[in-house]
Amino acid sequence: MEHSSPIFLTSSFCFDNAEEMRAAFADENDDNIYSRFSNPSVQEFTDRMCVLEEMEAGFASASGMSAVFASFLTFLKQGDHLLSCRAIFGSTHSVITKILPRYGIEHSYVSADNMSGWENAIQSNTKMIFIETPTNPGLDIIDLEAAGRLAKKHNLIFCVDNCFATPIGQVPGRFGADLVIHSATKWLDGQGRVLGGIVLGSKQLIHDIYLFCRSTGPALSPFNAWVLSRSLETLEVRMERHAANAFYLAQQLENNKAINWLKYPFLESHPQYAVAKRQMENGGGLLCFELKGGLESGRKFIDNLKMISRTANLGDTRSIASHPASTTHGKLSEQERMEVNITPGLIRISAGLEHREDILGDILQAMEG
Ligand SMILES: Cc1ncc(COP(=O)(O)O)c(C=O)c1O
Repeated sequence: MEHSSPIFLTSSFCFDNAEEMRAAFADENDDNIYSRFSNPSVQEFTDRMCVLEEMEAGFASASGMSAVFASFLTFLKQGDHLLSCRAIFGSTHSVITKILPRYGIEHSYVSADNMSGWENAIQSNTKMIFIETPTNPGLDIIDLEAAGRLAKKHNLIFCVDNCFATPIGQVPGRFGADLVIHSATKWLDGQGRVLGGIVLGSKQLIHDIYLFCRSTGPALSPFNAWVLSRSLETLEVRMERHAANAFYLAQQLENNKAINWLKYPFLESHPQYAVAKRQMENGGGLLCFELKGGLESGRKFIDNLKMISRTANLGDTRSIASHPASTTHGKLSEQERMEVNITPGLIRISAGLEHREDILGDILQAMEG
């Protein structure tokens, strides 16, 4: 028997006879039919993620955004209302603000630090609470337990994008999350190779997501799933080192004269430090800071980097720096950026697995250069 599982690189599956084929199409068994619906390599990745996120079932998709979109469109319909945290990934913000309204789906944004505001924003047609914690890129922390309680009280689907923390950093299902979403492209892959996404939840909710995706087609490629399954075998050791490096950088840079402020969930100076300590196992692999001097300083810092990659990703073995105001959140208006604290000089660092002094050295020389 092979030690590394094979890749099932096939678009469809064969049947021995007409009756077997009929039964599979009639959903009388779990036989694979077509890789848009299911595939053993994709199932291997899904099963491993179910264990890590302590969820019954999952559906893996082609990207994090297809997982987010499928979660919205499966459970929200015309006339429904979505409550979301204000600071979210740029493309998720575009979906909520620009695409969902075309389908008659309303939304309200609430800030991370305003839990009473969350309850006040619930309407009679609210169906779902959607949050990221820590948020991208500002690293705000939302109280999972409080949000989970609120969702239960008002009978809402509680959906958490757990991309930044990973299941090693926090398990949202323990706090009442009904759906947990990942961009597997980030820490889960961990080496910047493949795109992928996944939604996890109860068998019942995931069956609905499956039916939506089976028809609309955002299937994860078996090859990407195979890569992701192997990555999960190193996720815990990688995340421990990423988090240790990020924490070290945060401590060393916190009082640097070139910055106005720095945020890292496990620094006591973080506004939601107590909540982070309660719900997270570690502070994660990301930190962010605001350079003095605004947009110009931000761009100069990025230009000055020698080792750290300038790329539109995060969660890689190699450290990555990004300047959200001119990249991931560039499509937001100036006012929308300010509402989510994406200031012109904001820099996000994804701490890689390099020696911590090498990462720190590159950041310091780029600040001074
Ligand atoms: C928090 C978060 N959610 C979702 C996504 C989207 O994932 P993908 O790029 O795999 O579509 C990203 C991508 O950066 C993200 O950071």
